Amino acid sequence: MKVLGIETSCDETGVAVYDTAHPGADGLRAQALYSQVALHAEYGGVVPELASRDHVRKLLPLIRQTLAEADLAVGDLDGVAYTAGPGLVGALLVGAGVARSLAWALDKPAIAVHHMEGHLLAPLLEAPDLIPPFVALLVSGGHTQLVAVDAIGAYRLLGETLDDAAGEAFDKTAKLMGLPYPGGPQLAKAAETGTPGARRFSRPMTDRPGLDFSFSGLKTQVLLAWQGSDRSEQTRADIARGFEDAVVDTLAIKCERALDAAGCDTLIVAGGVGANQRLREKLHQMAVRRGGRVCFPRPALCTDNGAMIAFAGALRLTAGQHTDAAIDVMPRWDMANLPPVAAGGTP
Ligand code: KG4
Ligand code: ZN
Repeated sequence: MKVLGIETSCDETGVAVYDTAHPGADGLRAQALYSQVALHAEYGGVVPELASRDHVRKLLPLIRQTLAEADLAVGDLDGVAYTAGPGLVGALLVGAGVARSLAWALDKPAIAVHHMEGHLLAPLLEAPDLIPPFVALLVSGGHTQLVAVDAIGAYRLLGETLDDAAGEAFDKTAKLMGLPYPGGPQLAKAAETGTPGARRFSRPMTDRPGLDFSFSGLKTQVLLAWQGSDRSEQTRADIARGFEDAVVDTLAIKCERALDAAGCDTLIVAGGVGANQRLREKLHQMAVRRGGRVCFPRPALCTDNGAMIAFAGALRLTAGQHTDAAIDVMPRWDMANLPPVAAGGTP
């Protein structure tokens, strides 16, 4: 089954074709991504209306390009998968409108994909032997969640952020120290030249039991440290390093707790912050110490992309699921409400 995947939930237009005839990443026939970073940079964050308009401009050319790279005609597709939420409503509607119309014209099934399930399943692209149960750390610009994956499609929330998402905290902290948008990767880059331990910030909510997070206080600690400093390049690097270590340690402590709570030793990490090198190293060390396993997709599959949507959609379409012919999106959508995917549905 050849499935076209369309991602337009925020500021990246992502398109891919996944072919279930080949396992794991071999099934990825082609993919294309257009990032709107330059468009939003001058505003210091994503402007929803500009995002929607740019998806309108870029989506059809990207679909043509992806099909040409996969050496497929549009009629060769067996289904269309699209991100239906959570995300920006206008941006989601562009992808849903195109996907649903294409499926209607081709008389092929379409499937609405949950963006975070797309992230969550992305590690399976490169590790097809990964079989639930496992724990997933979902860390993106909009979400920070620990999820128990009992089966594909059966998700239990173990903990989440009470305020800012980890990516959001990276972005806001970077901005207040004058780093350009998008802040996460910029702050991580600045931290590379920071001195470990020169600046220390708290590990929020690790001194009490529980699996929830809170990152907004950390941002305030950084603001005070930055305002009271000489604001030199080295100070910025030191603060960036201190902040990154605080977030990474906090995530690692809670991941270990979640593994203990779920009684398993396999952790998968997904979402944009999963591209963070220090987080990857820290969780890898933790997994080695426990004799367990941690899986990350390659960084390009951690941040938003069409491949994860094509893959998640292929999984559900293969299991016989599809979505009615209505252009509906769900800007807020609880992953725990997704229907399970029947056994044998793994592409
Ligand atoms: O998953 P994603 O691409 O989009 C959402 O669904 O939100 O995640 C984007 C988030 C942004 O907050 C970005 O700053 C953060 O992931 N991010 C990083 C890194 N790369 C992306 N944060 C820390 N270190 C990175 N290397
Ligand atoms: Zn995302």
